[in-house]
Amino acid sequence: MTTSKAIILAGGNGTRLYPATRAVSKQLMPVYDKPMIYYPISTMMLAGIRDILIVSTPRDLPLFRNLLGDGSQWGLNFSYIEQTAPRGLAEAFILGQPFIGGSNVAMILGDNLYHGQGLQPLLRAAAAKETGATVFAYHVANPERYGVVAYDAQGIPIDVVEKPKVPPSHWAVTGLYFYDNDVINIAHTLTPSARGELEIADINRAYLRDKKLEIVPLGRGFAWLDTGTHESLADATDFVRLVEQRQDIKIGCPEEIAFNQGLIDAERVLKIAAESGQTPYAAYLKRLVEGN
Ligand code: G1P
Repeated sequence: MTTSKAIILAGGNGTRLYPATRAVSKQLMPVYDKPMIYYPISTMMLAGIRDILIVSTPRDLPLFRNLLGDGSQWGLNFSYIEQTAPRGLAEAFILGQPFIGGSNVAMILGDNLYHGQGLQPLLRAAAAKETGATVFAYHVANPERYGVVAYDAQGIPIDVVEKPKVPPSHWAVTGLYFYDNDVINIAHTLTPSARGELEIADINRAYLRDKKLEIVPLGRGFAWLDTGTHESLADATDFVRLVEQRQDIKIGCPEEIAFNQGLIDAERVLKIAAESGQTPYAAYLKRLVEGN
């Protein structure tokens, strides 16, 4: 069964961004011209997924509902669920079990931003896989901050380690995962790590052990950014601003993707533009449907 459902994780306390996130979730803060969560929503739309579960804290979930509603404005279907304490990324598959049902499921971290020519076919291929799991690896300067792939001398992946003090490679596992329905059972078998969390790396390790984990490298030409520190958040804003201004093409614009995919019509786009005031975002949406 191909992947038609996705979970966006927008929980956590965002303590690394205090005081900016004392009152509001990180994933609601802007990356240049739009809320951070627009980017992972767009990524899931590009994968062809329309049923999306948003996981956040009891404090922040009402704000996400306010911002995003039921998703129909973009031809999507949003559900919401609370994660009452930060018990790890992998808990999403336990909390999300009723949402997932018998489907395959993708998960994306609400602070991860993907951009690049050729991304959509990679996402579609991952979503089209019937069994096993797909993750993406990205060469980074600071692998110790991430889940990291260990390769043997032949370049075959042999392990995935979370935040290793001595990283086995420079290839970080990014925050975008596609799993078959077995992920629910695997999540139930996990025990909390030393930091008290159900680790996504342990899920990936289980698939790797069964030779069911595909690790797709995102090479030159792809941008993968996360926003876990003030510097990386500022970097993400700079990146989006630079590319959008240079090309006059938006990154992570759900209205544009929905319109291009035929999920919403021109009238709907213009309505959203009208509600967006005298902003460059509104002007962009108008140009999108007026074709100039
Ligand atoms: C999480 C995952 C890690 C992954 C990273 C990507 O870490 O645990 O494996 O590489 O996201 O952003 P976090 O940034 O939540 O500590």
